[in-house]
Amino acid sequence: MAVPMAGKDGSEDALVVPGGTDPDGIDRRRFVKTCMGAAALGVGGAAGFGMFKQVADLGDYIVRRVDYWGASRSLKSPAPRGLALIPVRVDADGFVAGVPEHLDWYRYCGHELSPALSDVGHTEDDVFRYSVSADKLHELEAPAEVYWYLDRLDRPVHVDHFRDKPYGTGASVRWRSEGLRGDDVVTALVLKLDPDEIAFDDLDAYMEPEHHLIAFITYCTHFCCVPGYQEAPEARKKGQWDKIFCTCHGSVFDPTDITRYSFDLRLPRDAV
Ligand code: FES
Repeated sequence: MAVPMAGKDGSEDALVVPGGTDPDGIDRRRFVKTCMGAAALGVGGAAGFGMFKQVADLGDYIVRRVDYWGASRSLKSPAPRGLALIPVRVDADGFVAGVPEHLDWYRYCGHELSPALSDVGHTEDDVFRYSVSADKLHELEAPAEVYWYLDRLDRPVHVDHFRDKPYGTGASVRWRSEGLRGDDVVTALVLKLDPDEIAFDDLDAYMEPEHHLIAFITYCTHFCCVPGYQEAPEARKKGQWDKIFCTCHGSVFDPTDITRYSFDLRLPRDAV
């Protein structure tokens, strides 16, 4: 039977709760029974990254456990878990790209079936493109003071744009989402951070090594708003300017503290 795992921030991944129904409508009793059956048969074993472990069969739906690394959520945040890393690499022309190695990590908040997060039929490149929502731009009197890349919106992120920037510089981007709309668009942050200040043994697998670029998905694990980095006046007021901050209900995520989290991904059977 799967055992809940406490994150470094004290959060628990969720699911083995006898009785009741979770917010996605999964019947816990059936879920637990399925887990026990799987354990008895020796199915699954320790879930490795890049693998998945099916934890429930709900007929038209399959539930599978996803383990991931992400920016830790602060203890007071309503968000239940952190924001997943996206491995970063710079291509031969200097464009900054996310490596689509762990697409399940980003499949929540209505993005589960986004073509951006599918291995099938995705023809676009993996380069990040600067992107800020119209809502966020309209909220600020002087958006160019916050979004230093404002004149590059929709264009690919190039390593030269960050070369002379200090640590603590970030940009909002979208990923693998050209031509997509609504929940199909995958949003993220690219940050330039000092690797010596990041607590994570496996950092080399995720951070671009020369320019120290790291990326996180940005749909809040609370109610799916899009958090930002060094963009909201409220974040500055609350002393969270160097954190990823969600203005909707004040969740805070620390990009220098990488923690392991889990969640259960529910997919239609024909989409698995
Ligand atoms: S804190 Fe509620 S959606 Fe982010």
